[in-house]
Amino acid sequence: MIKLFKITQIALFLFAFSFMSKAQNPLLIPDTLSGNNITMNLQNGTYQFYSGVNTSTMGVNGAILGPTLLLTKGQQINITVNNNIADTTTIHWHGMHVSAANDGGPHTFIVPGGSWHPAFKVRDKAGTYWYHPHLHRKTNEHVSKGIAGFVLVRDSEEATLNLPRKYGVDDFPVVIQTKTFTSNKQIVVPSNSDSIIMANATIDAYLNIPAQVIRLRLLNGSSQRVFRLGLSGNTSFSMIASDGGLLAAPISLTRLQLAPGERAEILIDLNNMQGQSIYLKSFASELANGIYGATYPGTMTSMVLNGYNPNPLNGSDFNILKLVVQAQNSNPVTSIPSSLVTLNPIPPANSNITRNVTFSPAQMGINQLNGHFLINGTSFDMNVINYTIPLNNVEIWSLKNNSAIAHPFHIHDVQFYILDRNGVAPPPEEQGRKDVVLVKSQETVRFITVFEDFADDSIPYMYHCHMLTHEDQGMMGQFAVSSTVGINTASGQINILNVYPNPSTGSVDIKSDGNVEIQHVDIYTTDGRLIRSKGYKNNAILQHIDNLPKGVLFIRITTNIGIQTEKLVVY
Ligand code: C2O
Ligand code: CU
Ligand code: CU
Repeated sequence: MIKLFKITQIALFLFAFSFMSKAQNPLLIPDTLSGNNITMNLQNGTYQFYSGVNTSTMGVNGAILGPTLLLTKGQQINITVNNNIADTTTIHWHGMHVSAANDGGPHTFIVPGGSWHPAFKVRDKAGTYWYHPHLHRKTNEHVSKGIAGFVLVRDSEEATLNLPRKYGVDDFPVVIQTKTFTSNKQIVVPSNSDSIIMANATIDAYLNIPAQVIRLRLLNGSSQRVFRLGLSGNTSFSMIASDGGLLAAPISLTRLQLAPGERAEILIDLNNMQGQSIYLKSFASELANGIYGATYPGTMTSMVLNGYNPNPLNGSDFNILKLVVQAQNSNPVTSIPSSLVTLNPIPPANSNITRNVTFSPAQMGINQLNGHFLINGTSFDMNVINYTIPLNNVEIWSLKNNSAIAHPFHIHDVQFYILDRNGVAPPPEEQGRKDVVLVKSQETVRFITVFEDFADDSIPYMYHCHMLTHEDQGMMGQFAVSSTVGINTASGQINILNVYPNPSTGSVDIKSDGNVEIQHVDIYTTDGRLIRSKGYKNNAILQHIDNLPKGVLFIRITTNIGIQTEKLVVY
């Protein structure tokens, strides 16, 4: 009798221990930065992914990941990026529409100890964007060691909707990543053995959330792995945004595939779930072979990728984040809107050109997954601009994957609309604005976009595979957007002055970057009446205009290098 008691005790102890060893850790919620001036310090650090064990990491203003930037469409932002990681790097604003000089691609590097000062007007629609390093051949290392963060843009269109938007209360950023650790828990890069799954750099993460409608901003920030997301119990959720912002209407789903670089915002209705828990999972058992994350990464099971198998994550279902439902907050959002925003996809008939872009392995055959991959038969060359695109060109890009693994294709500068996959219109979740699209083996994906606002003949934008191993190995190309194709630059249209705020209540500032001189300003009504005209002298880099009448106006600014025209809204 006594002996039996002891065995029960031991069993209880072991049971409790097995629970403890799978201890849950609170999800890290990155701090936020907002306002017009933002400082980001890239730094080395140590972080305890496992309690009591120090792992060498990199982060922004901290040891791991970086602050979430909260921006508002139309605002001017001045950023200082200080590079203290003892390696050259860059910071790229993934998904954001900024000039090439502000984009943070491989040409805009920051040397160790150096600083970079991007400054731009936020032109993006409300949505979930992100930042990460982008130095050629070093992107994977700097991202895997920890540098990545969210950029959440808000706008007046989104603000009118009844959506959860209290950061860290009912609106949460979740970056999903995998890592490979050595036996003493140091990060290995590059690696095809990424077996540790984490959400916001937290292993076995849990998040306490209120029993109401909550919003998750999901980002696949992993180097290679595709996730097939869903909730435990096949609970449905509503997708409300893709890479470039809100969809036309929420889409009820039980599964959502996210490839590296892709984002999605989802709403989960937890109204009657107080006291229960629900898991965000990846149902990787449902991934088809030929996708990194499936049982086999190539379309043929005889194709081996060094280090890939065995791995408990490949082809099996696993938890990413436990959601623990608590009491409802005051003023909760309790319902899901029936519609969101009006999207304006570009009609294919408007296209000026179709560019054919093919992906292929450097070496065909059974060993191809261990080699590098090519775009249009070549590898990235910093000194070659692959395409020069006329400013305002509307283009169809037709992506054809002639390799045995799926590649997430990403393009800078623009958001695009997917026209079709193998000639078939995409599912609703892919009908919104996108900047990454997963192209499966032997598939052809076409998208349409327009290259507006920014031209720069010397600094190009990138397009590449967002599997960071592939990108670093040269699966990347570059394009310059040119305004000098066919127009006289001296009298040409420019777009480098900031006119803000817009909309305004009647006072606006015109600011140049210091190199452009504002010489003359004319303001017209929509019916062409000139209501204000003023010339300026020397060093006119900032002008203030007051007492504008309410309504829609056009401002025409003449500078030493060209003319900028902007529509002004005064209310
Ligand atoms: Cu997310 Cu060119 O990158
Ligand atoms: Cu990007
Ligand atoms: Cu790839």
